[in-house]
Amino acid sequence: MKAAICLHGILLFCGLFFNALGSFVGINIGTDVTNLPSAANIVAILKAQQITHVRLFNADAHMLNALSNTGIEVMVSVTNEELLGIGRSPSTAAAWINQHVAAYVPATNITAIAVGSEVITSIPNIAPVLAPAMNYLYKALVAANMNYLIKVSTPHSMGVIPRPFPPSSASFNTSWNSIMYQILQFLRNTNSFYMLNAYPYYEYVKSNGIFPLEYALFEPLSTAKQIVDPNTLFHYNSMFDALVDATYNSIAALNFSGIPIVVTETGWPWSGGASEPDATTENAETYNNNLITRVLNDTGPPSQLSIPIHTYIYELFDEDKRPGLVSERNWGVLFTNGTAVYDLKLHASETIDANSSNVFCVAKPGADDQSLQNGLNWACGRAGQANCSAIQPGQPCYIPNTYHNHASYAYNDYYQKMHSSGGTCDFEGTATTTTIDPSYGSCKFTGSSSSTTRGLFPSPALGPIGPSSGGSRNIVHFSMVVTVIVLLEFNVKHFVA
Ligand SMILES: *[C@@H]1O[C@H](CO)[C@@H](O)[C@H](O)[C@H]1NC(C)=O
Ligand SMILES: *[C@@H]1O[C@H](CO)[C@@H](O)[C@H](O)[C@H]1NC(C)=O
Ligand SMILES: *[C@@H]1O[C@H](CO)[C@@H](O)[C@H](O)[C@H]1NC(C)=O
Ligand SMILES: *[C@@H]1O[C@H](CO)[C@@H](O)[C@H](O)[C@H]1NC(C)=O
Ligand SMILES: *[C@@H]1O[C@H](CO)[C@@H](O)[C@H](O)[C@H]1NC(C)=O
Ligand SMILES: *[C@@H]1O[C@H](CO)[C@@H](O)[C@H](O)[C@H]1NC(C)=O
Ligand SMILES: *[C@@H]1O[C@H](CO)[C@@H](O)[C@H](O)[C@H]1NC(C)=O
Repeated sequence: MKAAICLHGILLFCGLFFNALGSFVGINIGTDVTNLPSAANIVAILKAQQITHVRLFNADAHMLNALSNTGIEVMVSVTNEELLGIGRSPSTAAAWINQHVAAYVPATNITAIAVGSEVITSIPNIAPVLAPAMNYLYKALVAANMNYLIKVSTPHSMGVIPRPFPPSSASFNTSWNSIMYQILQFLRNTNSFYMLNAYPYYEYVKSNGIFPLEYALFEPLSTAKQIVDPNTLFHYNSMFDALVDATYNSIAALNFSGIPIVVTETGWPWSGGASEPDATTENAETYNNNLITRVLNDTGPPSQLSIPIHTYIYELFDEDKRPGLVSERNWGVLFTNGTAVYDLKLHASETIDANSSNVFCVAKPGADDQSLQNGLNWACGRAGQANCSAIQPGQPCYIPNTYHNHASYAYNDYYQKMHSSGGTCDFEGTATTTTIDPSYGSCKFTGSSSSTTRGLFPSPALGPIGPSSGGSRNIVHFSMVVTVIVLLEFNVKHFVA
């Protein structure tokens, strides 16, 4: 199990994955995908969705190049295959940092390195090299003078905590105490964070009905189903919060404190096999929407209210080449053509600094295609006089070929040129301002510090551009199939009130 969206009105759309006040929602980009789009196209999709944080499962050169000068923050990963070499050899670690990190910083904003993936629970025999590997990588960062910019940590599954419920009495499996102790000491000494892969989906399925589905999906619980920790009397509105708190308590049980948790993976599969009735489009849509609202409200779990839970959704695209259960191949929130698998509604709005010198005007996430097409025609036409040549076929901003992307480009070009003389960013309610530069790859939005068209006067307009590719939503409905669920032992008698 491996394990960061918002999205989609009619064709493509998405939301703001961050909250100007603090917390963010990012996305994991797995690559076991048939017809994986090119790195440049993936980055175009990320920009169109206004995604600000990504995690890669490796340190792919094409992706790191494509992510340069985008403002997107990047977590790179040491793969489990690379781990042993790095854990045994400081020079291998230094070479890794030079080749995969130093070569791209600062153009690419690499802010964290995930060392291996769920090593303790998936390849326990390698676990003893984890702490050494993290130390060697950190020392190489120090040598490159990058240790203040880039954190080193390692993602753990919930499998390291045998009984997460109730959170107050959770602790790490004592078999791993000495390794966990070294890791926590490293995280504390380097001001890093604990990387947690937390899947209410799996906990729910394993619990065989002990927990209500609403609890896993962040839905309201009736008074009869309230979930209270008997020791602390904290009310848990969601299993997600409980899993994060179980981890804080496990860390505290080893006498460590002050190490924040970042959720490096969470999500919900939208399709599954006959034995996976909870993997539905409806549940995935509910989970990820509620997750985004939850994370962006900026509070921590009950035991650590002041520490926001930065979170990466798993994952951008379905990884159809992954082995295992059907659900393993259906965690994506976007299809590779950039359209959304299901609606993810926008819940947080960005705070705009009205005095910022760089305000851009883009199409609103979720605006419908017909309205965007009207706005686009107006902006590029005689009335708006935007310069729409960059969104013509073959030009730098043509891909992704969506109304949303094309309208964003045209709205912004109009706004940059006309704002000072009273032009607004409205377009019948389909536009919104942002301080995030929407440029990507070679597509430079007007007003971008990297654009050559900044400050030009209005120029003669081209005619309205031809229609973008259309597309209709394609939501698949799954029949619910009753199944036998593996029952694991839970110590929940006192937990579920
Ligand atoms: C990179 O990300 C860090 C952390 O959010 C931020 O402080 C910094 O300004 C970013 N750097 C660039 C060049 O975007
Ligand atoms: C703790 O981990 C060991 C080693 O992987 C395993 O054998 C044991 O079953 C685990 N204990 C619990 C309570 O899960
Ligand atoms: C944590 O600290 C308490 C009190 O000092 C001590 O009793 C306990 O043994 C410590 N636990 C560990 C795992 O070091
Ligand atoms: C933020 O989320 C927590 C946990 O679900 C909830 O208790 C709290 O009421 C929320 N705060 C706001 C302002 O919505
Ligand atoms: C913008 O700047 C003006 C003058 O400096 C100031 O009065 C105003 O409060 C600022 N507005 C915001 C939203 O910061
Ligand atoms: C329109 O924008 C393109 C770049 O996208 C630029 O090459 C061209 O000169 C611009 N046309 C006018 C009339 O400003
Ligand atoms: C995008 O891909 C999905 C899944 O293959 C398909 O159902 C949808 O029609 C495609 N949309 C467009 C606009 O090509």
